[in-house]
Amino acid sequence: MERTLVLLKPDAVRRGLVGQVISRYEAKGLSIVAMEQRTITGEVADTHYAEHVDRDFYPPLREFATSGPLVAMVLEGDEAINVVRTLTGATDGRQADPGTIRGDLSLSNRENLVHASDSAESADREIALWFPNL
Ligand code: CMP
Repeated sequence: MERTLVLLKPDAVRRGLVGQVISRYEAKGLSIVAMEQRTITGEVADTHYAEHVDRDFYPPLREFATSGPLVAMVLEGDEAINVVRTLTGATDGRQADPGTIRGDLSLSNRENLVHASDSAESADREIALWFPNL
């Protein structure tokens, strides 16, 4: 069993897609271990996206990530990290494969609905950041 962190970003909440996105993960067989809606500060965004803070796309990403409520959750299942990334699809919604969440529902490389941990190390770090009591 493996755990991974998923954020349903502010575009998912604004567009009313939270239920639809969660349904896809649940239908796959993943379990929700923790879930909470939050509006984050710029400082939390900087910590979460530490590896991206120096990139040119970061300032608008920070603005977007803090622009409204998001839903943070921890999903659990066999090979959950890779399974969730496969279901989520490529970063740029315009290029993500049909059948994936981003491929079916996003037309942007910033407002791409979901963040999912990209490795076991990221999952450990991100779960500790978002859900320190787990
Ligand atoms: P996420 O999986 O949360 O990880 C980093 C985020 O940065 C990514 O999803 C996108 O929201 C955003 N991102 C990555 N690359 C770009 C880009 N080239 N332009 C704009 N936003 C990007």
